[in-house]
Amino acid sequence: MKKLLVTGSSGLIGSEVVAGFSAVGWEVHGVDNNMRADFFGPQGDTRWNLNRLLETHASFHHHEADIRDRSALMGLLQALRPDAVVHTAAQPSHDLAASRPFDDFDVNAVGTLNLLEATRLACPEAPFVHMSTNKVYGDAPNEISLIERETRWEYSDPTFAGGIDERCRIDQSKHSLFGSSKVAADVMVQEYGRTFGMPTCCLRGGCLTGPNHSGVELHGFLSYLIKCNLEGRTYRVFGYKGKQVRDNIHSHDVVAFIQRFIAAPRSGEVYNLGGGQPNSVSILEAFALISEISGQAMNYEYVDQNRSGDHICYISDLTKLKSHYPGWKITKSLRTTFEEIHQAWHSRIR
Ligand SMILES: NC(=O)c1ccc[n+]([C@@H]2O[C@H](COP(=O)([O-])OP(=O)(O)OC[C@H]3O[C@@H](n4cnc5c(N)ncnc54)[C@H](O)[C@@H]3O)[C@@H](O)[C@H]2O)c1
Repeated sequence: MKKLLVTGSSGLIGSEVVAGFSAVGWEVHGVDNNMRADFFGPQGDTRWNLNRLLETHASFHHHEADIRDRSALMGLLQALRPDAVVHTAAQPSHDLAASRPFDDFDVNAVGTLNLLEATRLACPEAPFVHMSTNKVYGDAPNEISLIERETRWEYSDPTFAGGIDERCRIDQSKHSLFGSSKVAADVMVQEYGRTFGMPTCCLRGGCLTGPNHSGVELHGFLSYLIKCNLEGRTYRVFGYKGKQVRDNIHSHDVVAFIQRFIAAPRSGEVYNLGGGQPNSVSILEAFALISEISGQAMNYEYVDQNRSGDHICYISDLTKLKSHYPGWKITKSLRTTFEEIHQAWHSRIR
């Protein structure tokens, strides 16, 4: 039986990794200390998801460890010597980081280095997949010229018709402290590939979403937006007339890519990974779609100030990823993703 170590296993992506690899016969070891509840309060608590995984996957083992704890990680990796490592644990919020700079950097940058070095010492041949983010590009994507449509901003420069690719620069733009700590981690993961020849990759996510997110105002916009609709709560829109665009990818499709990378790994790679143009949506369009699905109007208020460094329009160009892994494709449409999240909140709230 092959063994996988996944950090952040109670979170959105980590829990989907547990389910995806358990389903194909792997023994899965998860590391999570529920720090999402510490970052975001009770609404961010992930224990419900941990309990769900323990109940549904017999080959899943939970380790209550903190990725900041270097010796705990060294001990765990030495004891397990996994066949692959997937790193999804993080302080994931662009907005929260400025109020907790040490926690943000210690988890995102130092925690990643701890895991890389523990992997190198215990099992350097194990493929290492790191969840990075499109925030490593800072607000450089905002330099692309745009057209204002009725419900969304669109790229007017034809160079970006297919979205933003991995050649976008990562420095000399505004990142937020979160984007900066993720740049440190991203570059370090690449470097362990280049310096030590380890099979590593960074997945620079657009909006990753799905039914198992513990969405809160500061992170997981679609999950939180749909929850607000269901509960009749007021959603706050920050600037850009509500026409800001995100490309959304279901966690199931993220894990399908991770499985392909682990089956045929490369070294020191970076890939943009999002829903692409067909799965892109603006906030105003998301309001309309969820109202159509739920039959409930969306309550919202407009704050005439965008989040600092927030992208106006971000769509991932998936060309590189598809050329390296031609069998992979998006399988969950935007509407299906909305419906699944809506259904999940319905069950959880009830
Ligand atoms: N969700 C998105 O839209 C999105 C977009 C781009 C990139 N990403 C990246 O993908 C990864 C996964 O995101 P997610 O949405 O699943 O996040 P999540 O918050 O749902 O999951 C992260 C998990 O890590 C755990 N964790 C946090 N600090 C920890 C620590 N010190 N030790 C052990 N566990 C810890 C949390 O408790 C949580 O369960 C992150 O690296 C994030 O930056 C996410």
